[in-house]
Amino acid sequence: MALRIRKYPDPILRRRAQEISAIDDEIKRLADQMIETMVLAKGYGLAAPQVGVLKRIITIDVEDDFYALINPEIIKKSDETEVWVEGCLSIPGIEAEFPRPAKVTVRALDPDGKEILLERDGLAARVLQHEIDHLDGVLFIDYLSQTKRLMLLKEYERLKKEGPKARKDTKVF
Ligand code: NI
Repeated sequence: MALRIRKYPDPILRRRAQEISAIDDEIKRLADQMIETMVLAKGYGLAAPQVGVLKRIITIDVEDDFYALINPEIIKKSDETEVWVEGCLSIPGIEAEFPRPAKVTVRALDPDGKEILLERDGLAARVLQHEIDHLDGVLFIDYLSQTKRLMLLKEYERLKKEGPKARKDTKVF
């Protein structure tokens, strides 16, 4: 069953998600439901706070990376940065270009409790950073200048009033 995606300014998007201490059936079910929700929403990724759950779990769907990650942690970031256009399923209709580290190393558990280490660049690195940010209540608009952020939020409010049809249907983070 797909879950409802929380939209900005839902306060849950600003809260810190808790570490998962035991991967039980409830967590496995949540991982499956998040994957379904991500796919139906045409997202590259999803984080549990976006479906109203304050637990450290994300899902990603970028090329060969298609799975859930539990307690993901960035353990290394490159000094080199890269500029990409980023959007978010929780702030639909707006997007912005800004830099982030080009390459990251992420440590996490898979839903079977096995430790995995991912070294990624390109889009996967971008999506991993965006989703892990969600676990700490950070949104992509936080990286922009105040003027740019306010401009985008004004546009977001305008699109909300016009309804979902006014939005561009692009694949987002
Ligand atoms: Ni997002």
